[in-house]
Amino acid sequence: MSELRPLTAADKDFVKNLMAKMTLAEKVGQLHMPSRINAVADHEMIANGMVGATLYASGATAGNERDQGVRREAVDSVQRVAMSSRHGIPLLVGRDVIHGHRTVFPIPTGQAAALDEELVYDQARRAALEAVAEGINWTFAPMLDLVDDARWGRVAESYGESPLVLSRLGTAAVRGFQSVGCLTACGKHYVGYGLARGGRDYAAAEIGQTSLRNMHLRPFKAAVDAGVGTIMAAFCAVDGLPMHANRHLIRDVLKGEWGFEGAVVADWDGIGELVHHGLASDLREAAKLAINAGVDIDMVTGAYLTHLVELVESGEVPVELVDEACARVLGLKVRLGLFDPENPALPGNADSLPGIEQTHHLDRDLARRGAYGAFVELKNDGVLPLIRHSGEASKGGGPEGIPNPGEGGVVKPGLVVLTGPYVNEQDALLGTWTLDGDPAEVTQIGKALKERIPTAIVDDGRFSDLTILRAREAETVIAVVGEHAARSGEDRSLATIDLPVGQLEYLQALSRVANKLVVVVFAGRPLNLAPVLPLANALIWAYHPGIEAGPALVDILLGDATASGRLPMTFAHTTGALPISHMEHRTGRPTLEAPLGAGRYQDVPSLPLVPFGTGHTDLVYGPLSVVSQTEDGVRVQLSVTNTANNTVREPVLLFYRDPVSAISRPIRELVDFQLATVAPGATELVTFALPTSAFGYYDYSVDYRVDNGEIELTAGWPRPDATSVTVTV
Ligand code: NOJ
Repeated sequence: MSELRPLTAADKDFVKNLMAKMTLAEKVGQLHMPSRINAVADHEMIANGMVGATLYASGATAGNERDQGVRREAVDSVQRVAMSSRHGIPLLVGRDVIHGHRTVFPIPTGQAAALDEELVYDQARRAALEAVAEGINWTFAPMLDLVDDARWGRVAESYGESPLVLSRLGTAAVRGFQSVGCLTACGKHYVGYGLARGGRDYAAAEIGQTSLRNMHLRPFKAAVDAGVGTIMAAFCAVDGLPMHANRHLIRDVLKGEWGFEGAVVADWDGIGELVHHGLASDLREAAKLAINAGVDIDMVTGAYLTHLVELVESGEVPVELVDEACARVLGLKVRLGLFDPENPALPGNADSLPGIEQTHHLDRDLARRGAYGAFVELKNDGVLPLIRHSGEASKGGGPEGIPNPGEGGVVKPGLVVLTGPYVNEQDALLGTWTLDGDPAEVTQIGKALKERIPTAIVDDGRFSDLTILRAREAETVIAVVGEHAARSGEDRSLATIDLPVGQLEYLQALSRVANKLVVVVFAGRPLNLAPVLPLANALIWAYHPGIEAGPALVDILLGDATASGRLPMTFAHTTGALPISHMEHRTGRPTLEAPLGAGRYQDVPSLPLVPFGTGHTDLVYGPLSVVSQTEDGVRVQLSVTNTANNTVREPVLLFYRDPVSAISRPIRELVDFQLATVAPGATELVTFALPTSAFGYYDYSVDYRVDNGEIELTAGWPRPDATSVTVTV
């Protein structure tokens, strides 16, 4: 259960009594959220109760900029003014604490790769602790947008293409953030933003009702069920109706059908943007549309503050709508304990935050564990790890040039050359939406490698002829390439997902001379690896991993840790093959290559370049078998055997396919995943218990149904030894 407590009847009475004393203007004030307010400049507005919330963000695309950071004293001073207002109502204080606060963890898509709910929970909890210590009581995370188009820069902020992964990791994040008790999470962006047409940021989304229900709404429903305090409306229009005016999806579905009791917040100027969308001729009309749709808090536009009182007085907006929105905001403040003067997020109380002493230093251990999961091994012909115990067979056949044997039975690598634009980088490896992380805290890859292999040659990161000469002499060349964090995130959509300019040529030049080439690609989105994979002996895919980027990568290269991530998004053969997902719908014209269909091109294969779920494995799978099947659900299991010399913690993925259904369903869909922990040489049983509802779906009439019949279950796809069984539900 979320530790942001649910509202009790007594809480509701408290809110009712408080509102009975408030003027209409004061109620509207609770719905107004300007950014970066100041205790001096904005004193009058705050003291008059005309502000209910604020956010510390530098502008419309704050995730791309460094700002002055948040200072507890500044937050405390605005809270003091708010608490001195007529009703003494503290403010909601928002900040985009997305993948860590001071301790920066991997970007969300990197966290998704680990498929580890506990890890996501721990990282979110840690971020919340650090944020509350600075007076923040609201984070605009997690992002729950389902994404399948790598052109969209914001895929970096998402848990990927699977509604199940989004739901489970999103729930873990909500619980982790809210576990501190005085900070609310925010599920965003409700809904469909991930389907911005062509991957163009802010573009409209076209989503049919069944896809909306079966895919896009699911993570939001899961977050609501987990007790998320707030939901943010999406910028986009869905089927022509901008979400900030979408009464059906906000009032009927979110607040009605799902019983969401928290507050719905606009995105940055999302109410004002209704004018640009062509829905409203001015801000007054925009305010009317948004409050009618159920948007409770106006982020920065000021349309509510300026127009709502008059709109109510003129009879154009029923006062009940303002009352409802205000009650939601005040109810949230009650849930956050903001009316309790001892609340650790309130002025003077920082030291009372349980665990505050932990926030005095960065949590490097957690950041290191997080980073391991954000690396995905996409290729390894045996060159990795660079250090092994003598006698240990190199995986996948072994390198041709056997490294020099060292002392103590350890085989050390010969000359290692490390090159590429990220060798000495810090900022680039933190990732988008790092508002409070300090780049100086990122240990560089070059430095981390030199500490472990002092003889390694570390390049200056420029593409020079000298590097090519050195590469010729080296036993192993490690090239670290990919996207700078600034190339991903909001408003960072790309029309081509190739490596940044010049990098492919550089890798080609290296591969012509290198004995062994290890390529590490940092990125916030899937890139076009078709020309890159053939050049490399090993390819480690790396989502911007945060402060422990350097040591985590070096641990992996040297064999002290495993790149344990799995791809949370499918990789396409080329930009033109986007969007793409493991959940493509079936088609009427399957091919031999793609027997389940999913559409095809003439110039590239129909199957993806690298499927969702790909990653390193040390486990050998036994056959999947049925343990039981009843009306309520099925249990299936398989054995997994650890072939490594160390204990393995590895995700086991289970997919399903419904051969006959009322609408055309995905060719496969992830239905469950579990982390198996297996001692060296040991075999464990992994059991999946699935309720019948796991196979349910919405049909074309938007009726939820679970069909009786056969379901095909497959464990381990896309591994070659994936194992299937058919069950009857
Ligand atoms: C706009 C972004 O879309 C949203 O994700 C973010 O939380 C807000 N700005 C606040 O910074």
